[in-house]
Amino acid sequence: MFTIRRAIITDAAALRDTHDAAARGTLLRDYPADLIEYFIAANPFPERYRYMLEHDWCYLAEEGGHPIGMAVAMPGRIRMLYVLPAHQGRGVGAALLATAEADAGAGVSEITLHATLTARGFYSHHGYVTIEEGAFAFPDKRQFAYVKMRKQGSG
Ligand SMILES: CC(C)(COP(=O)(O)OP(=O)(O)OC[C@H]1O[C@@H](n2cnc3c(N)ncnc32)[C@H](O)[C@@H]1OP(=O)(O)O)[C@@H](O)C(=O)NCCC(=O)NCCS
Repeated sequence: MFTIRRAIITDAAALRDTHDAAARGTLLRDYPADLIEYFIAANPFPERYRYMLEHDWCYLAEEGGHPIGMAVAMPGRIRMLYVLPAHQGRGVGAALLATAEADAGAGVSEITLHATLTARGFYSHHGYVTIEEGAFAFPDKRQFAYVKMRKQGSG
């Protein structure tokens, strides 16, 4: 059985490893491999992860002492919700989302997120509606498509 806990500063490598492995193992359905590598490089280690751990709420799902999923939240916003491919379809993503929503949605009117094309159905399934389809532009002008979605918060 898995557990979810708030990540601390010494978990930076666990967050990075979980994010990168889940992105490489899952996003290939919807994005070319070289674009996934750009996407991963957009969160440089360790500085970006240290920043998130110091400023945002970061969560790790673990089983048997090993990380299997992660998420990041801040007031009104959820980011980087990833589950390792071997552990997808077991409720880990839903549990991470519920934990992140409890923090991100507290006292705010809405939660927004930028979903990958791969995760869009997951968020729709959990009550998020699309408000914009767009793309992040990388310096070499290649574009990483996203779907901006929203759900009502508790405030
Ligand atoms: C999207 C993701 C986080 C879902 O995690 P997961 O652990 O596999 O999801 P769960 O097992 O908790 O699924 C919960 C529910 O969502 C549904 N669901 C999961 N993925 C879905 C999808 N792509 N489309 C529609 N429904 C989906 C499940 O069927 C399940 O439904 P149920 O509660 O009625 O049984 C995971 O597949 C993932 O890491 N994807 C790749 C990374 C990514 O794109 N992350 C988002 C960045 S914004």
